[in-house]
Amino acid sequence: MLAPENPAVVSTPPMADLAPHTTAHSIVSVRYDFKGVRLEWSDGRVSVFHVLWLRDNCACRECRHPQALERTYIFIDHAAPVVIDAKVDDSGDLEVRFQQGTSSHVSSFLRGWLRAHDPAELRARSRDFTPRRWSDDIACRLIRIDYTRYREEREGVRAWIAAVKTQGIVLLEGVPQVSGKLLEVARRIGPVRASNFGEYYDVVSSPRPNASAYTAMGLELHTDLANWRSPPDVQLLFCLKNSVSGGDSVFADGFRVAEDLRTFDPEAFNLLTKQPVEFRFHDDSCDIRTTARVIETSPAGEVQRIRFNNWLRAATVFPQDLTERMYEALARFWRLLRDRKYQLHLRLAPGELIAYDNNRVLHGRAPFDASSGERHLQGCYLDQEDLDSTLRMIDRPAA
Ligand code: OGA
Ligand code: ZN
Ligand code: ZN
Repeated sequence: MLAPENPAVVSTPPMADLAPHTTAHSIVSVRYDFKGVRLEWSDGRVSVFHVLWLRDNCACRECRHPQALERTYIFIDHAAPVVIDAKVDDSGDLEVRFQQGTSSHVSSFLRGWLRAHDPAELRARSRDFTPRRWSDDIACRLIRIDYTRYREEREGVRAWIAAVKTQGIVLLEGVPQVSGKLLEVARRIGPVRASNFGEYYDVVSSPRPNASAYTAMGLELHTDLANWRSPPDVQLLFCLKNSVSGGDSVFADGFRVAEDLRTFDPEAFNLLTKQPVEFRFHDDSCDIRTTARVIETSPAGEVQRIRFNNWLRAATVFPQDLTERMYEALARFWRLLRDRKYQLHLRLAPGELIAYDNNRVLHGRAPFDASSGERHLQGCYLDQEDLDSTLRMIDRPAA
C-alpha cells in the first residue's frame, strides 16, 4: 500500500479533512438569508450553500472528533438552524453564525473546501476519470507502463490507476519473472481481494481442473467471479511463461458493446438490464451462487457493470414467456462481443502484467496446445475503493 507521507495526525487539520483543499480563487462577496449563504468568487462563479448542509458540516471540535476527524454532530438532536450572520474572516475564509432554538454556534469554512464542494467543481472533478469507451484503434492506444516507474514513482502508480479507470485496461512491462510478484504489484495499491481461488491463483493447464481457466481450452470473453454478488473490480494477470502455441489474449470493452446493443437492439438491452441470470461456481470445497443482471445500469441509465461468463452461467429458470427472448438477448450481446472490431488482441509475454476493470472489460484467450511448451499466468484481484484511495493519497501533501 502507498504509505501516507504524513504518518500521524498531530493537530486537527482545517475542516477536519486530510485532503488538500486549496483554491486560487477568493471570496469577493457574501450574502445570506435564514436559508443559506451565497458566495461570489473572484472568477465570477456564484456558489449557494444551504443552511442545513453548512451547519451539518461544521468541523469544529464540538462537531467533529478531533483525532478520528469523524462527525460527532447529530443534527436530529438540535433545533433547525438559521443563518444569522455570514462574513469573510481575516484569512479570507467564511465564518457563519447559526441560531438553533435558544443556542447559537459559529462555524468556519475554508474557502478551498467550499470551492471544492461547489456543484460545478464536483462535476468537473468526476469527469477526470470517467471511462472513455474504446475506439477501433484500441490496440495502438493500450497504455504500457514500465514496472520500475510503477514501483518507484508515485506518478507511475497514478498513471496505472488512471488507465484502469479511463481505458479500463493497462499493461505493466518488465515485471521480474518471480512467482507471486503480482502480489507486490497489487499491494502497492491495496490489500488483495481474495476469493475461493485464494489470494492469488496459478493459471496453468492442470490434469484435474476445477475451473475452465485451468485447462488448455479457449475461453470466450467473460468477466471473472460473475457468481459473486460483488465481483472483484480489477483483475491482474501476470505472465510468467508463455511458450505454447496458441493461448493469445483477447479483451473487449463491455461498456462500448452494451451501448451498441442499446442502439441496435434496445429490447435485448432492456431485457439484459432487467431479467436476472443465475451464476454458479462449485467444486469440492464450495458452492457459490448469485442471481444478477448481465448489464447493470445506474439510476441515470448509464451502463455501470457487465457480468457475463458462460461456464459460470447456472441453469437459470426464466419466466416461461421470457425464455426465448432471454436466449435471444444473450445471443445478441454475445455475437456483438465476438465482433473483432470491438476486440483487443495481444500475446502476453513473460514479465508482462495486464490489469483491467473486471466490471467493464471482458477477457478471454485462444485455446493452446499444452504439449507445445509452457504457459503459466498468475492472477489476483483488487477493489476499486483501494484504487481511488491510492489516487487521493498521491495527491495528499506531506504534513
Ligand atoms: C482467468 C482467465 C485467461 C488466460 O484466469 O480468469 O480468464 O489467458 N485466464 O489464461
Ligand atoms: Zn461546530
Ligand atoms: Zn477469467
